[in-house]
Amino acid sequence: MQTSDIASLKAEIETLKPVRRVGRVVSVEGGVLHVAGLERVARMGDQLRLSRRDGAPLGGEVLQLRSECIVMLPDAPSDGVSLGDRVVLLEAGLLAPSEHWIGRVIDPYGNPLDGRSLLRGPEARYLRGDPPSPATRRALGDRLETGMAVFNTLLPVVRGQRVGLFSGSGVGKSSLLAHLAKHMDADVVVIALVGERGRELREFVENVLGPEGMKRAVVVAATSDRSPLVRRRCAWAAMTVAEHFRDQGKHVLLLADSITRFAEAHREVAVAAGEAPALRGYPASTAHTIMSLCERAGPGGGEAGDITAIFTVLVAGSDMEEPISDILRGVLDGHVVLDRKIAERGRYPAVDLLRSVSRSLPAAASSEENALILDARQLLGAYDQSEMMIRAGLYSEGSDEQVDRAISVWSELDRFIAEPERQNTEHSFSRLALILRRARSGGGARRASGKSEGVQATRRSAPPEHRESSTQVAVARGGRGIVLG
Ligand SMILES: Nc1ncnc2c1ncn2[C@@H]1O[C@H](COP(=O)(O)OP(=O)(O)O)[C@@H](O)[C@H]1O
Ligand SMILES: [Mg+2]
Repeated sequence: MQTSDIASLKAEIETLKPVRRVGRVVSVEGGVLHVAGLERVARMGDQLRLSRRDGAPLGGEVLQLRSECIVMLPDAPSDGVSLGDRVVLLEAGLLAPSEHWIGRVIDPYGNPLDGRSLLRGPEARYLRGDPPSPATRRALGDRLETGMAVFNTLLPVVRGQRVGLFSGSGVGKSSLLAHLAKHMDADVVVIALVGERGRELREFVENVLGPEGMKRAVVVAATSDRSPLVRRRCAWAAMTVAEHFRDQGKHVLLLADSITRFAEAHREVAVAAGEAPALRGYPASTAHTIMSLCERAGPGGGEAGDITAIFTVLVAGSDMEEPISDILRGVLDGHVVLDRKIAERGRYPAVDLLRSVSRSLPAAASSEENALILDARQLLGAYDQSEMMIRAGLYSEGSDEQVDRAISVWSELDRFIAEPERQNTEHSFSRLALILRRARSGGGARRASGKSEGVQATRRSAPPEHRESSTQVAVARGGRGIVLG
């Protein structure tokens, strides 16, 4: 038996407490239970276990503390609960992740969901831990290999970056996350699946992620039938697992699907606790809850590794102003928008490049690479603006040099965005450079030397710092009204 196994066993034994604090149910009202006898010892967020006279035990959490009782929010419907039922106070919101969890599917309490036994780690951590102190935290790190041409080049992801992935349902968020889980640079991948249906969870783990994706992954899941407490806890548990590996010096990729379901679970819990619904039904504590979760991801400090995170957000229609997107954009270092129209024509991932931004630019790319990115964005932008005319046959070739170039290269650029990258970022950039060179020569044949040529020449001869700032401007413009705060 290895030392780590013995440590895990010891930790398991230590959880068996000889003394337990016990209270009794005194009333059941509006989905919450009032329990007397624990009000002097319980703390907010502590876990509880109620023994029904007949039937399975019922878990729950301390929601309010009053002078004469505590209010318990149960994990499941309180059918079968009667007055006088015993309620045991368990330890606070702790989780003890372990190396053994890699390759496994667990629930937010650290119990296995794949039918095999699972050991706890030697050290329990707070589920709602603090982010690394800003004073010791490193800056964003190096560019990562993502296994996709578009994320290697036009929307780079660097170590410690926090990215939002926004789209309506069924546009390909989960599939894209699975691809990144398999191919992106990372030592460990932690995946939080909040509020998926049971069937979807199985399908995701077995088919979408598959054995290849599971090899270095820990999946933490709370399906939609679980109580809001469990669903909310799922995101915290996954973050806690990520922090465990980060503190061992590893580079962790955290994929959270979805923050919207996390926020909805929080809304249910907070409203049950008596908080008033505010912005579109979300109580005021929602913003803080989301931001403090996201803030825990990012670069570490000292010997610790980093947590690179991708959070998915469900947006109805293209409403990027709905409260959850709005809150998240403030804490993210980039956002990727997937568009239903693009998915409908079968181009996956359905990244809408013009509405997506990586804040790791321009620092994450060399000046030559930034020039290529700028060129590609301008061409896609030019095409986008004239697309109606082009499709209607109203555009006449030669009227605008940039649009001519865009037309000549658009389908290749569009395909490029969908390309998986089997080699490396350098290869992705040389593919992009090749495509853009073709555009240059295609447009160049028709181009009358004049104003546009002059613009080209100025940009080519501009010093690197000038070029970089122009990339920033283009990136901000590309954001089309969703520029980050
Ligand atoms: N890369 C892809 N290639 C082909 N089809 C895809 C791809 N990504 C997504 N899809 C299609 O879109 C559907 C929904 O994808 P999914 O990732 O579950 O969306 P979301 O998580 O946004 O709801 C999939 O069932 C599949 O039919
Ligand atoms: Mg999904």
